[in-house]
Amino acid sequence: MKSSHIALVTGGSRGLGKDMALNLAKKGLDVILTYNNEKEAALQVSEAIEALGQKAAVIQLNVGEAKSFDSFFLNLKNTLTETFQAAHINFLINNAGIGLESHFEKTSEEDFDTLMNIHFKGAFFLTQKALPFLADGGGIVNISTGLSRFAFPGYAAYASMKGAIEVLTKYQAKELGERRIRVNVVAPGAIETDFRGGAIRDNAAANKAVASMTALGRVGLPEDIGGVVAFLCTDEARWINAQRIEISGGMML
Ligand SMILES: NC(=O)c1ccc[n+]([C@@H]2O[C@H](COP(=O)([O-])OP(=O)(O)OC[C@H]3O[C@@H](n4cnc5c(N)ncnc54)[C@H](OP(=O)(O)O)[C@@H]3O)[C@@H](O)[C@H]2O)c1
Repeated sequence: MKSSHIALVTGGSRGLGKDMALNLAKKGLDVILTYNNEKEAALQVSEAIEALGQKAAVIQLNVGEAKSFDSFFLNLKNTLTETFQAAHINFLINNAGIGLESHFEKTSEEDFDTLMNIHFKGAFFLTQKALPFLADGGGIVNISTGLSRFAFPGYAAYASMKGAIEVLTKYQAKELGERRIRVNVVAPGAIETDFRGGAIRDNAAANKAVASMTALGRVGLPEDIGGVVAFLCTDEARWINAQRIEISGGMML
């Protein structure tokens, strides 16, 4: 039996990460997904992946706690051996994250550090420590935001961390090219998820405002994103490298 490639999706229990995990499985990949608090939700996603005929496993991870990464990778190593009879993953999707709205003038050092630890330091060192587990010829997909291209009041800190991930993507692609590892960054526009307490999904006025700024006339859905990320983890995407791919329906053109 031909063994499947394995993708590790951080924050795969809900929202965009869940849709990425399901689409990866639909494309024939096995998936390891992480959750921070919502273990039940993560287990439901892993069951759905198994129902699609692929292997799945869930591991707890707080991406904002870099000190916990060594024990996370010990868990990953055991999971790879026991559940997948494998030593490596083929793709890493750095998706886990939180939204935090705060105007530049009012952003506290504490909020800045929270965003920095999750969105930049976390993704930086998680990827660094993942390298021995990442197969040559594999790939990394980082998740940014449309807010790195256009300025929307209230997101100076959040969008700056995402901007940093976009720069990092280029350096990773350059330095990991010798291992044939491709690194791309996907930048979703505003998407209806639990993000920021479901602000875009549940607030009709905010939803309408975003729709009116979007060429295709609506807010994005998780289903608009996962398939693109999954495509980047296929052989058809083998020559796509160091790219920022915005998926926003044409927001703020
Ligand atoms: N939604 C949008 O409009 C939008 C737009 C552009 C970019 N993004 C980016 O897309 C990514 C996913 O967002 P989403 O909308 O899917 O959010 P979401 O629905 O709130 O889901 C967040 C996911 O990340 C996990 N997570 C949260 N904090 C974590 C931490 N400290 N350590 C590890 N995992 C953590 C959650 O795990 P639990 O379920 O265990 O809590 C959950 O799986 C984020 O990087 C976000 O910045 C979102």
